[in-house]
Amino acid sequence: MESSASCPAAAPLVKKQFRVLVGVTGSVAALKLPLLVSRLLDIPGLEVAVVTTERARHFYSPQDIPVPLYSDADEWEMWKCRSDPVLHIDLRRWADLMLVAPLDANTLGKVASGICDNLLTCVIRAWDCRKPLLFCPAMNTVMWEHPITAQQLGQLKAFGYVEIPCVAKKLVCGDQGLGAMAEVGTIVDKVKEVLFQHCGSQQS
Ligand SMILES: Cc1cc2nc3c(=O)[nH]c(=O)nc-3n(C[C@H](O)[C@H](O)[C@H](O)COP(=O)(O)O)c2cc1C
Repeated sequence: MESSASCPAAAPLVKKQFRVLVGVTGSVAALKLPLLVSRLLDIPGLEVAVVTTERARHFYSPQDIPVPLYSDADEWEMWKCRSDPVLHIDLRRWADLMLVAPLDANTLGKVASGICDNLLTCVIRAWDCRKPLLFCPAMNTVMWEHPITAQQLGQLKAFGYVEIPCVAKKLVCGDQGLGAMAEVGTIVDKVKEVLFQHCGSQQS
């Protein structure tokens, strides 16, 4: 892998079109999905698509997401016979980088143990670990402090996935403390940093 010095600051961040797949789960932080997508689209050369859990759909309006948005129904409606695409595999092939934001406690537990019972967890289970996967935990403070959280985060990091740590604030539920998803600016900066690390080796 080449250093970021091989990516001139004056040029677009990535000369090649880079494809970011955003996974969104049923945390209240999914309210920020429209802002997150819009900030990612500000990065030159970036193509974005979203894969959502059913619970996450409660927190945003599809009309506020100006990129392809895939949910469980798409996976099953797309496949009727052998020649049809298998969506979770096609999305894995399509994406250069996966960003799961927010990653709620439920999907964290599933990913840590390899469960894949919806489109998002199937993409993650099928993920090629040579490609970057970033995740942004978001949950209630007491859920965060439960010992199983650290165990599961440790498992994801052992897979090579990159944590964008949660922050402390007054949560929507009224509790105060760690568990809030990282700020959108922090998340976008980390995506840029990881793309910089990879862009040298990705240019042809
Ligand atoms: C209003 C509301 C807010 C929620 N926020 C969170 C959250 O921030 N973090 C979390 O881990 N779970 C949260 N949950 C619980 C998840 O939505 C629940 O565990 C769900 O089953 C997650 O499904 P998914 O992982 O398939 O998206 C919230 C539930 C509700 C009703």
